[in-house]
Amino acid sequence: MEVKTIGILTSGGDSQGMNAAIRAIVRNAVRCGIKVKGIFDGYQGLIDGNFIDLDIGDVSGIIQKGGTMLGTARCVAFKEQAGIQKAADNCRKFGIDGLVVIGGDGSFRGAGDLSRAGIPCVGLPGTIDNDIACTEYTIGFDTAMNVAMEAIDKIRDTITSHHRCAIVEVMGARAGWVALEVGIATGASYIALPENLLPGESPKERYERIKKEIADRLKEGQEKGRKNFTVVVAEAVTSLNKVATVEEMAEEIMDMTGIDTRGTCLGHIQRGGSPTLRDRVAATRMGYHAVQILKEGIGNRVVGEKNGVVYDMDIQEGLSMKKYLPEDLLDIWRKVGY
Ligand code: F6P
Repeated sequence: MEVKTIGILTSGGDSQGMNAAIRAIVRNAVRCGIKVKGIFDGYQGLIDGNFIDLDIGDVSGIIQKGGTMLGTARCVAFKEQAGIQKAADNCRKFGIDGLVVIGGDGSFRGAGDLSRAGIPCVGLPGTIDNDIACTEYTIGFDTAMNVAMEAIDKIRDTITSHHRCAIVEVMGARAGWVALEVGIATGASYIALPENLLPGESPKERYERIKKEIADRLKEGQEKGRKNFTVVVAEAVTSLNKVATVEEMAEEIMDMTGIDTRGTCLGHIQRGGSPTLRDRVAATRMGYHAVQILKEGIGNRVVGEKNGVVYDMDIQEGLSMKKYLPEDLLDIWRKVGY
């Protein structure tokens, strides 16, 4: 099949580097003689036929920009067969022979559905959470970690002056990659991870257990003469499961330890800002690779990175994989992290 036009969409939560990926896709495609249509607001734009033609000049000056120039959304209609069919029909109507979908696992599931409906799709991993199993790296992870690290460094300045404890909540709905690496990089006294759930334990029970572990760790440090502490907590442990806000956790820790404690939720600041070099290069390499596959009419693939090499694999196979936090890093943190 001759591929004359491809589409690009960004879907789910945005991540820094999505623009760099869009740029690489457009430039590689156009230089291969393929036309490109940008699709606004994820799968919703595909259903609504909300497209824009993209040429080389349309993607200049965006490599350094956070967010996504195409907008993004979590599309409920696309979860239904009627929505998938409408999206596939629109691809045919507007001559879109293949599609690059930049997003997380949910977006890949949609790309698999659309591939089955006859539109070859290639998924690119874009999420700050780094929780996509078929790739060692996801676009946005490095920038988000650096944003969080720099924020915690700043919080630490004032915490040190006031001899306080800072409890900082970072993103991580299902996975603690950001919390773990940022916790190590900021010398956190404790890192609370979503993965730290004992069998049969409810989120509330986990919260209470972790809170006690934090208090014990702080008291231990206090006995050794430490006067300031930082604790990194993934949102799954606190606000996401509506167990407590990080501010409430700080109050409770203060009652348990007598240490003046403040809670800060970093929130969406972690998803913004100019992508780091790591993210710009990863996005560019993956975007380039997506076009290399798609121009051959090959779909139902997801692009990933392993041992520094960009590769692709079957979407369903990728979705069935599992990813765990690196044991060596967990071990390092337990021994020298704090
Ligand atoms: O991008 C992934 C993620 O950042 C999660 O860690 C977080 O829970 C979620 O997105 C929040 O996204 P939103 O506020 O856009 O729904």
